[in-house]
Amino acid sequence: MNEEQRMQAGLATEDAPKTTEKDYSKYFESVYSAPSLKDAKKRGKEEVEYHDNFQIDQRFKGMGNGRKFYIRTYGCQMNEHDTEVIAGIFMALGYESTDTVKDADVILLNTCAIRENAENKVFGELGHLKALKRERPDLLIGVCGCMSQEESVVNKILKTYDQVDMIFGTHNIHRLPHILHEAYMSKEMVIEVWSKEGDVIEDLPKVRHGKIKAWVNIMYGCDKFCTYCIVPYTRGKERSRRPDDIIQEVRQLAAEGYKEITLLGQNVNAYGKDFEDITYRLGDLMDDLRLIDIPRIRFTTSHPRDFDDHLIEVLAKGGNLVDHIHLPVQSGSSDMLKIMARKYTREHYLNLVDKIRTAIPNASLTTDIIVGFPNETDEQFEETMSLYREVGFDMAFTYIYSPREGTPAAKMIDNVPMEVKKERLQRLNKLVNDMSAEAMKPYQGQVVKVLVEGESKRNPDVLAGYTEKSKLVNFKAPRSVIGEIVEVRITEAKTWSLDGEYIGVAKEEKVMA
Ligand code: 5AD
Ligand code: SF4
Repeated sequence: MNEEQRMQAGLATEDAPKTTEKDYSKYFESVYSAPSLKDAKKRGKEEVEYHDNFQIDQRFKGMGNGRKFYIRTYGCQMNEHDTEVIAGIFMALGYESTDTVKDADVILLNTCAIRENAENKVFGELGHLKALKRERPDLLIGVCGCMSQEESVVNKILKTYDQVDMIFGTHNIHRLPHILHEAYMSKEMVIEVWSKEGDVIEDLPKVRHGKIKAWVNIMYGCDKFCTYCIVPYTRGKERSRRPDDIIQEVRQLAAEGYKEITLLGQNVNAYGKDFEDITYRLGDLMDDLRLIDIPRIRFTTSHPRDFDDHLIEVLAKGGNLVDHIHLPVQSGSSDMLKIMARKYTREHYLNLVDKIRTAIPNASLTTDIIVGFPNETDEQFEETMSLYREVGFDMAFTYIYSPREGTPAAKMIDNVPMEVKKERLQRLNKLVNDMSAEAMKPYQGQVVKVLVEGESKRNPDVLAGYTEKSKLVNFKAPRSVIGEIVEVRITEAKTWSLDGEYIGVAKEEKVMA
């Protein structure tokens, strides 16, 4: 391994790379690039490297002694989990965490680029932080996550937000110790963003949020290139973690007493496609994981195109594999799906739903939908409404299309006025609400198993948790059952949640006295 490779792997290097603004332009040309469909699609030729010996360089140990960090996370569960890794690195460096911006010596915004409003929130927050930086010039402010992978964002920060001290990308998290070191040493903005497709780094430290549910990455990146989506550019190419590493991590979490695992990936159904030495896909992984003694395992997020029969067969075995599947459809019109480059049709999707329902009759399905994609007609939107009814989804995340610079859809001319898009979203949301209320009704009087997560956000006297099908349940019970799976009889079914009476700890869950 040469020096450059060692550096990229976050292994000890003789010297941290110079990443100050002064030599940014050079860095920009060689390592950093704007989202470009042409360049990104060339991916796949470079082999993924696995690094399993992440260590904090001796010279950075104790860097955080007497200092506190604060991380604000935007966006998806993948980002939430990245924050756990970033927090782990901070702690390994000797920093303490704080929930208060004012107490922090380092503030990091872990950003999301999926829609314009997500980005605007970050720019707004950076604006607020300017005053704090003026008061305390020693404060370090950093931007990481998906927005850092966009050239236009980096340029805007360089031009307008000089309160920012460091920017690093989604492939550079393990480089945090070097980046912090550089930021302390230099007055210039430190920028380290690689457009490199990404490797797999194991053994990164993590500070998990809570002791009940845990996220486990199974793969990184996305090669699907849906025409509206920025993710394949910000997260790099699809690369899967090795099965043994994942199984080991889940076993460890089970041993630590975690009750629920969510396997994470931008497109988990592509898991294992990149292995050259073994044939091992998501179905195989689930089949191995279901043997581990942990009550619940779920995964997110699925792509209908790669959802294969073997996976359905394995999920039908049940046990700790939950019967809730999040299966983003995006649109019910085959024409729209075509220009979104989703690579399936309405019929394919409905057929897949049929297969899932035949194998797992009680499966709960939820989805993501985009309305107002360029040139979407009333008829095409009606097809989304009719597909929603036909599938009978329990819930959906719905969005108005947001153009993302550098993606093919952003270049499409759009004849749908914003007013029409908003009206479609409203109509769809009404359907989503009505059908959620419908899906809740049969729970009235039933006994459900709930993983108790803690106090209800609205009322501290009430506990709250989720069923296997991800239904929120509120009930009164002793606080000692937090973290347990309990039985609750449902007394009232609402649109988005269920109220119930506590019965007791579920039988197979009873902890030894
Ligand atoms: N505009 C609106 N919604 C989007 N999504 C992804 N990209 C965009 C975009 N440019 C939605 C999709 C995806 C979810 C995570 O975000 O529905 O499934
Ligand atoms: Fe984006 Fe998901 Fe499509 Fe990948 S599969 S491009 S993450 S919407």
